[in-house]
Amino acid sequence: MYPWEAVKPSQDSTLRIIHEAVKRGHEVAITHPSNLTIRDSVTLSHCKTVVKTEKTTSNIPSFYKAIQFQMEMRRLDDFDIIFMRDNPPLDSLMLNFLDSIKDDVFIINAVDGLREANNKIYPAAYHDPDRELIPATHVSKNIDYLLRIIKESPNDKMILKPLDGYGGSGVIIVEKSAMQSVRSLLDFYINREKGISNYVILQDYIEGAEQGDVRILMLNGEPIGALRRIPPQGDLRSNISAGGSVAKYKLTKSDKILCMKIGEKLVRDGIYYAGLDLINGKLIEINVLSPGTITDINRLNKVKLQEKIIDYLETVLKRKNQFKTDFRPHELIDHATVVN
Ligand SMILES: Nc1ncnc2c1ncn2[C@@H]1O[C@H](COP(=O)(O)OP(=O)(O)O)[C@@H](O)[C@H]1O
Ligand SMILES: [Mg+2]
Repeated sequence: MYPWEAVKPSQDSTLRIIHEAVKRGHEVAITHPSNLTIRDSVTLSHCKTVVKTEKTTSNIPSFYKAIQFQMEMRRLDDFDIIFMRDNPPLDSLMLNFLDSIKDDVFIINAVDGLREANNKIYPAAYHDPDRELIPATHVSKNIDYLLRIIKESPNDKMILKPLDGYGGSGVIIVEKSAMQSVRSLLDFYINREKGISNYVILQDYIEGAEQGDVRILMLNGEPIGALRRIPPQGDLRSNISAGGSVAKYKLTKSDKILCMKIGEKLVRDGIYYAGLDLINGKLIEINVLSPGTITDINRLNKVKLQEKIIDYLETVLKRKNQFKTDFRPHELIDHATVVN
């Protein structure tokens, strides 16, 4: 996960997952990708293992304050489950460390799923020929091609964003009425790093975005909670980190259909836990690394989503122990039966 010191106890989703696991008596250790090591063909990490106490306080900020860790080098294959909770961008070399233990440990999300789905190409490439679920989206680093797309678009404005951005950073509107700036803008986005060119996303602006977007948390292919995020005055981005506020949201029938269709693909790809971002019923992003919002959804709906998550992981583990000899988590996850 991201550094423990960066956790805001009143808001943090990972802390809630950890708290629930500790409360149920599970051993929990945290580490960061930068601590990974291979020694004599064993993958290890320098971990902070939570020291067990007799009672776990139900107050999560107090839990955060009181927690004690023991620092130790641990074999990763000693764990039953690894829950990836680091912030984007994904360190792709880190995945090679996890490749070495992926047959022994249940990794949520699966290494290959993370590799495939960690940026916005994944939803952009989702097969949706009639554009029922995904807005028209172009991924490219070819400036002339992108300029042509904007000029030929029937709409006056489009959304431009970096392929690997998060938290709303770099998301802007490009308008036909300001075409003289667009080449420079594209050049800036694509060539912002010396010697490296970056892909960008050009996407139809979804009408209704002013009313905010919807975050849906998906566990094992099914929605477990949602909320609406409303952009601050004068900004197009609804991200909470960009100043957006939150409100209660009930999934519509068409949201549920979208979840079912996308959910099946997610589970097939090893993305057991994800955050979908929807605007006006259209999918714009799938967050697979460390989607937040658990705390807000809990508060708005008087639920504890972390309980569902740990229930799910306990179910996976039970199955894993039943099939000890040759366990392949992907094959065992059964969309319909695991969660319940
Ligand atoms: N196609 C779009 N139409 C309208 N608004 C958009 C569109 N794409 C993104 N936005 C706005 O920008 C925010 C961030 O975009 P998103 O694609 O989710 O990137 P990030 O990874 O930075 O969260 C969204 O929550 C939404 O408010
Ligand atoms: Mg987003």
